Amino acid sequence: MTTLATDILFSREIIHRRVGELALQISRDYQGRDLLVVGILKGAFIFMADLIRALGVPCRVDFVRLTSYGEGCVSSGTVRLTKDLETPIAGRDLLIVEDILDTGCTLSRLTDILGEREPASLKVCAFLDKPERRIVPFTADYIGFTIPDAFVVGYGLDLDEKYRYLPDVCVLRDIDGQGEG
Ligand code: IMP
Repeated sequence: MTTLATDILFSREIIHRRVGELALQISRDYQGRDLLVVGILKGAFIFMADLIRALGVPCRVDFVRLTSYGEGCVSSGTVRLTKDLETPIAGRDLLIVEDILDTGCTLSRLTDILGEREPASLKVCAFLDKPERRIVPFTADYIGFTIPDAFVVGYGLDLDEKYRYLPDVCVLRDIDGQGEG
């Protein structure tokens, strides 16, 4: 069995500070608007909870869930909406909140789907961005941290549903075999 250790990449203090900065920027941009924050389940739930509580403007919240099928993601066409919004969005200012922007397949597909419903505006806030992994071109409007191509967990992000509860963002390290020989 593989044994994994978690090395902290971003501590809870650093995350807290960065979320505050993002919230300030978003609050300025959405002053006097009709803001609906849309979280992508499951990974974005912790980031979104922190972000909306740090906002200085009122908002409503809703959630979507998507799955990709087939072997990995080769295009946004492999991504399907499995839980839709419960709120009508025509004429509303939408801010999609995602845990991590990786290949770009999920956000590219979701912005296409929601864009067709004619919101007043549509922007994306990704807590993490891994630009080296992009398959479908996609740029988020707000980004917490840009990271290299490494698999990270914690602060909502999982590996097979594990590690979401960790308060820090961590990189996994295989420690099998260490201490031998
Ligand atoms: P994309 O469609 O490839 O951009 O996928 C984004 C989704 O892949 C995220 O919402 C995560 O669920 C998952 N993902 C991508 N990279 C990581 C990672 O490093 N850790 C945990 N989940 C990840």
